[in-house]
Amino acid sequence: MKQPKIVILTGAGISAESGLATFRDNNGLWEDHQIEDVATPQAFLRDPELVYRFYNARRAQLQRADVQPNAAHKSIAELQQRLGDNVTIITQNVDNLHERGGSHNVLHMHGTLLSYRCLSSHQQVYYTAPYDSNTRCHCCDPGSKVRPDIVWFGETPKYMQTIMTALSQADMFIAIGTSGQVYPAAGFVEIARDSNVHSVEINLQSAANKDLFDETWQGPASETVPAFFNTFLKTLS
Ligand code: OAD
Repeated sequence: MKQPKIVILTGAGISAESGLATFRDNNGLWEDHQIEDVATPQAFLRDPELVYRFYNARRAQLQRADVQPNAAHKSIAELQQRLGDNVTIITQNVDNLHERGGSHNVLHMHGTLLSYRCLSSHQQVYYTAPYDSNTRCHCCDPGSKVRPDIVWFGETPKYMQTIMTALSQADMFIAIGTSGQVYPAAGFVEIARDSNVHSVEINLQSAANKDLFDETWQGPASETVPAFFNTFLKTLS
């Protein structure tokens, strides 16, 4: 039997049970700032130390011993092991829980916390410690300033060409734990529909674009994601 091509999009909800708050929990506030106010190029120009502090806090939280991949991350890794390159994993998350759960080739369309970007060479460098406006890169001589390796509101997400190709060639598109409010990711389901790709939403609370999905599984990701893939894999054997 032909192996199906599956495109998976994950959002903050898949990491919620690993101890990382979703963006729109707490009304999307951090230290009384709107998330959007610390996640834009304008915010970085206006108050860089605030922006560094925000991401330093999130980078430190990610590396806490109690923050571990959960059953949903692991179940996606098992699917990838089974179907190989037929599985494309796209995440809006800047954590590394998919990789720690066993997945590889994850498309981090919004960047990653465990890296910085050199403001001169634009190189992305793996980096786990806190950094700020005094930190200098190791790629330039003398070293240049660095910024969080995050795609902010108003910037273009990464890997868009690869993502568009994968969506157009897929048999199934599955969105997990994302509120469907932030584009372009929120529009992937429409692209899938245009290519007659079967679409599935797995979420705790329905996404803003819920009506566009062919199928919905509701509940916590650590239960619903393994349940969905177990059911799906039975249809293959
Ligand atoms: P949101 O915080 O907008 O949405 C989280 C989603 O996860 C909601 O639909 C919840 O119902 C769901 N959820 C919460 N707990 C869950 C659980 N245990 N199991 C399953 N689902 C659960 O997060 P995103 O949609 O990922 O961008 O946000 C998209 C983007 O907006 C982020 O990547 C970020 C943000 O602002 C940037 O920083 C550029």
